[in-house]
Amino acid sequence: MDIIKNIEQIRKDFPILEEKVHKHKLVYLDNAATTQKPWSVIKKIEEGYTHQNANVHRGVHFLSQMATEAHEDARKTVQNFLGAEHSHEIIFTRGTTESINLVAYSFGETFLKEGDEIIISEMEHHSNIVPWQLLRTRKNITIKVIPFNEKGELDLETYSSLFTERTRLVAVTHVSNVLGTINPVKEIIKTAHSHNVPVLIDGAQSVPHISVNVKDLDVDFYVFSGHKIYGPTGMGVLYGKEKWLDAMVPYQGGGEMIAQVSFENTTFNELPYKFEAGTPDFIGSTALAEAIRYVQSIGMNEIAAYETYLLNYATEKLKNLGDIRIFGTSEHKSAVISMQVGNIHHYDMGTLLDKLGIALRTGHHCAQPIMKHFGIEGTLRASFALYNTTEEIDALISGIERVKKLF
Ligand code: ALA
Repeated sequence: MDIIKNIEQIRKDFPILEEKVHKHKLVYLDNAATTQKPWSVIKKIEEGYTHQNANVHRGVHFLSQMATEAHEDARKTVQNFLGAEHSHEIIFTRGTTESINLVAYSFGETFLKEGDEIIISEMEHHSNIVPWQLLRTRKNITIKVIPFNEKGELDLETYSSLFTERTRLVAVTHVSNVLGTINPVKEIIKTAHSHNVPVLIDGAQSVPHISVNVKDLDVDFYVFSGHKIYGPTGMGVLYGKEKWLDAMVPYQGGGEMIAQVSFENTTFNELPYKFEAGTPDFIGSTALAEAIRYVQSIGMNEIAAYETYLLNYATEKLKNLGDIRIFGTSEHKSAVISMQVGNIHHYDMGTLLDKLGIALRTGHHCAQPIMKHFGIEGTLRASFALYNTTEEIDALISGIERVKKLF
């Protein structure tokens, strides 16, 4: 694998990996929460504010035109990255959460009536549960839930049985941020389409790790966050098929999203601007495009293969430790390991590992229904990225062994 050959150079691309934490070399294994940024992204942000800062779509002056061009080029970069038909099907948002809230509001207001139904799953992040509950309160709809089995795989038979003539939307995650399961979204979409029901896929944990093509999936809405794919925070994407976005009412009102305003009547701008009220994050969009160029320069299939190698290495070593329970054991898994070590509370384990410079996430990971399924409060979670190494996994293993000795 090229990443193995070039890992030292790749790690040098990420300045934060040189940091010391509590006098130890940082071992950063919290990549499902957020990823670190390569120099090229950091420099792009600096360059934007140093040389290219002017509001977009508003000025005839040089700087504004340059900023507008860079912002729209970034949209095209995202379009090509996702394999979307049109660049106006790419809406810039603040992140996955805002993208889902946008669809829940705008699709919900446009197409849902009292008594309608939507389908989500038991392994959703709260971001793909709560916006639908808010819609349920407004519209009096029903939310149905696809269960998962002990391996952390969705029960597709039950899924098929949830459809009725009142089903209006399916909203499911591509990859679980707790279990790591890579869901068979193509099959899930096909089933929904056979009932003429559109599908939203939460790609927050998939887009940074596996290749995604929205046309191949034939997905109706696909969402992801910039900061989880080595890009800036506060920057996200909603992909939506033109036919849906065109028909949907706007999400927020303000500048940019209007065609004409009077006190009597306002008409709305064309796509994508109809959904981008207010000054967009035009520096963030160019930095996100830079992050996409970074992963493309390595190759998504290469990244997926390397992270699977890390996942297998870590899973094997952890199992050899004994007295460890791993939540999420599907064969189709992304590089996320949620675990319980003996009887040691995940918070104690996370805190003591931090003292050794090892960063993991602890808690319910914003997915409390998964915790309820297993009858637990939380887990210790290690999640990997393209710059992690087997040496870092060894450091985690010996860290866990040291903590175990303390208890
Ligand atoms: N959703 C992010 C995580 O899983 C924050 O950590």
